[in-house]
Amino acid sequence: MERVSRSSTDTSPRPDDGATGSTGPWWRDAVIYQVYPRSFADADGDGLGDLPGITARLPHLADLGVDAVWLSPVYPSPQKDAGYDVADYRGIEPVFGTLEDFAALSARAHELGLRVVMDLVPNHTSAEHAWFREALAGAPGSPERARYVFRAGRGADGELPPNSWRSVFGGPAWTRVADGSWYLHLFDSSQPDLDWSNPQVREEFTDVLRFWLERGVDGFRVDVAHGLIKAEGLPEWDHEQALLEGATASGERPPMWDQEGVHEVYRQWRAVLDAHEGERILVAEAWVTPPSRLARYVRGDEMHQAFNFDYLRAPWRAGELRRVIDATLAAHAEVGAPATWVLSNHDVVRHASRLGYPAGQEPASGVGPDDPQPDAELGLRRARAASVFMLALPGGAYVYQGEELGLPEVTTLPAQVRQDPAFARTGGEDRGRDGCRVPIPWEGGEPSYGFGPGAASWLPQPPEWARLSVAAQTGVAGSTLELYRSALALRREHGLGRGALAWDAELTGGDVLAFRTRDVLVVLNLSARPVAPPAGARALLVSGELADGAVPTDTAAWFSLG
Ligand code: NOJ
Repeated sequence: MERVSRSSTDTSPRPDDGATGSTGPWWRDAVIYQVYPRSFADADGDGLGDLPGITARLPHLADLGVDAVWLSPVYPSPQKDAGYDVADYRGIEPVFGTLEDFAALSARAHELGLRVVMDLVPNHTSAEHAWFREALAGAPGSPERARYVFRAGRGADGELPPNSWRSVFGGPAWTRVADGSWYLHLFDSSQPDLDWSNPQVREEFTDVLRFWLERGVDGFRVDVAHGLIKAEGLPEWDHEQALLEGATASGERPPMWDQEGVHEVYRQWRAVLDAHEGERILVAEAWVTPPSRLARYVRGDEMHQAFNFDYLRAPWRAGELRRVIDATLAAHAEVGAPATWVLSNHDVVRHASRLGYPAGQEPASGVGPDDPQPDAELGLRRARAASVFMLALPGGAYVYQGEELGLPEVTTLPAQVRQDPAFARTGGEDRGRDGCRVPIPWEGGEPSYGFGPGAASWLPQPPEWARLSVAAQTGVAGSTLELYRSALALRREHGLGRGALAWDAELTGGDVLAFRTRDVLVVLNLSARPVAPPAGARALLVSGELADGAVPTDTAAWFSLG
């Protein structure tokens, strides 16, 4: 496939297909591919992926037809939470490579026309970050402690945590240090929360942004973007902690999420990005609901994109999907931002398995060997339909590594290989996220399916993956990989992602969704009966076989009306 090579600083609008005459910056309809570095490609054979491995495999992404690559964190880190525990924001973790390897990756990506988005983790550092070491060495009340959230405990001897907050990974959100003070960690105890009311913290992060912007990165995915500011006085919140939490029935909002103060931080960051040449972006990982709250992160002077987790979490029912789509598009239109669609990432059950459960029973977190297992065939069928449908929606989209291969969640990982801190902190009750993080298969027939030069792989890969490898699916009509390649090529050709959405009143209804965008009609059939397209419609792309020209159950299709 021919691709136009663009430099990281290219701000020119994309060529328009003429259907609506709209043009605009690259990110408004970009398809961004998430690379989870430890599981993508392992050049040195130690069983953990690395930067040279990614660089060597970038042509796969160019062929796939994505616009950019987002790398999950590759900074120096003790890897207690797979790199989301950063010990130094200006370097590269030696197991992943060096700053030179990063420069080579970035240069190669740009040569291939792919932009590069880093992952920024501002809510917490690693406990091994120099600042936290200094905080531990410092006295209670010292400036070194003031970069984090240290508090005295409750109870006669301060033996009780300062408040009732729980960690997202299970257990209390507080850990006590030798002198009796407690520090806050919304995640693992190895990830102390920073205090964003401290100007030093703010300065440090604008400096870190500049460090990477000057190295040519095209943007940042911002981890836990809704968590940086905590409500004044850390008021009680006596609930199990979940990432996607809206207000309670009585209207109370969680004091650790989505506080007004976060927006000021992102306005400052936006100014930093805008002062650099090119259209560099900020992407919010903000588990915020409803969409009207999420859209506040993408107001004109804040971030560019925000993952739509309401959509990711929506059950496989037409009515609920439509409600989220409508609410999302309306809320984003109000602030002039595009929507950002996503179905899988490194924190959720892969959608090829998630959708293999009855509608409404899709698991949010991991699945273990003793849990009810997904219907793999149904899951893949629905996942292909979900992806084809999503890739036609107006806005940008994210693809998580391996979803283009139709990879399922690995549900059979034994407890002893699971590494997610959420598994350990809950005594295995939360199965954790390892099942969506298993290294991906490149070529069948070799040990580790081409993930690395030898057999090593930090999580075991199931034998069925031989037939799911990139090589096994390349050129195979009907394979999930070829489906994604066609979808991305057609999306580009028809300017999908840039169009508006108009529901097709005749076809939409019951468990069927159909909309027009640009010159394309998109149909998603969740009902039991096949749906016939209008006379003269020509199928451009189908997630499964059509049945006598009609779209069968759990299938999505794009039709040309031209
Ligand atoms: C969200 C990240 O995606 C997840 O993997 C991580 O565990 C938490 N944030 C904490 O950084």
